[in-house]
Amino acid sequence: MTTMKTTSPDDHYLFDSGSDLGAQQLNSLSALFDGNTRSILSPLLLPDSPHCLEIGAGNGSVARMIAEQTGGQVVAIDLDTTHLPKSLGVEPRRHDIREGVPVGPFDLIHARLVLTHLSARREIFAQLVDELAPGGWLVLADVGLAEELLVAPQESDHDVWAKYNDAAYRQIGPAAGHDYSWADQIEAAMLDAGLTDVAAEHVVPLGRGGGPWAMYHSNLSRQAEAPLLSTGLSMEDMERYRTMLADPEFRARFFSLTYTIGRKPTA
Ligand SMILES: C[S@@+](CC[C@H](N)C(=O)[O-])C[C@H]1O[C@@H](n2cnc3c(N)ncnc32)[C@H](O)[C@@H]1O
Repeated sequence: MTTMKTTSPDDHYLFDSGSDLGAQQLNSLSALFDGNTRSILSPLLLPDSPHCLEIGAGNGSVARMIAEQTGGQVVAIDLDTTHLPKSLGVEPRRHDIREGVPVGPFDLIHARLVLTHLSARREIFAQLVDELAPGGWLVLADVGLAEELLVAPQESDHDVWAKYNDAAYRQIGPAAGHDYSWADQIEAAMLDAGLTDVAAEHVVPLGRGGGPWAMYHSNLSRQAEAPLLSTGLSMEDMERYRTMLADPEFRARFFSLTYTIGRKPTA
């Protein structure tokens, strides 16, 4: 393990991956985004039996995908490994990435929706680059805000939407260390770090009322209910937010996802 600790006193992960809601959240992410992730990872040129690192592995779906596709070994780390089973080629490890990056060299390092949450993301990023093997790939997927309420079931829902987003994305998220602008900085960070073959893809999923992306956000509102209410958001607005997200008429954009790849030069 690299020794440099990058824990900030303000940082705390807002969600409980080991809980039932946490399990639903992780399963939703797999269902929503593993297809995109597969299409980003599949074309990467890797050696036979590569050594890989999956950070914030969640339920392990991406770690298993990498192990199956490459025949390699994947060290899969997460703060909470309750829903992260051992499987062929996948070694789950309970580990806080802020305590240091496992020692490589790794042919592939992947993290989806993790660095956005961590205020020490730049220091961790530098450690990840250090632990890449020559020719190794770094693949990061992070979120940006794309808040847009396209169809509101009721006129007053615009107000509820604005109040909820203010509490979630301008108060409790930043207070927990989130930076929603990081996703757009990764490409430049990779170029500055001397990585090659740098490329980025940006997707903005549409949330439909009652659909998986809207229900994912409803789940987040439940997991983070206490801090959301502590901002002054009322329970009435919280409940209306959830009802709106379940309404078949509702259409909105929540987050964008940016997938950025870069490769360590071979010499
Ligand atoms: C939003 S979830 C994403 C899960 C998975 N990467 C995916 O996209 O399906 C973030 C994951 O990162 C883990 N996590 C959060 N902070 C972490 C840390 N400091 N070190 C390791 N894992 C962390 C959480 O437990 C959770 O499983």
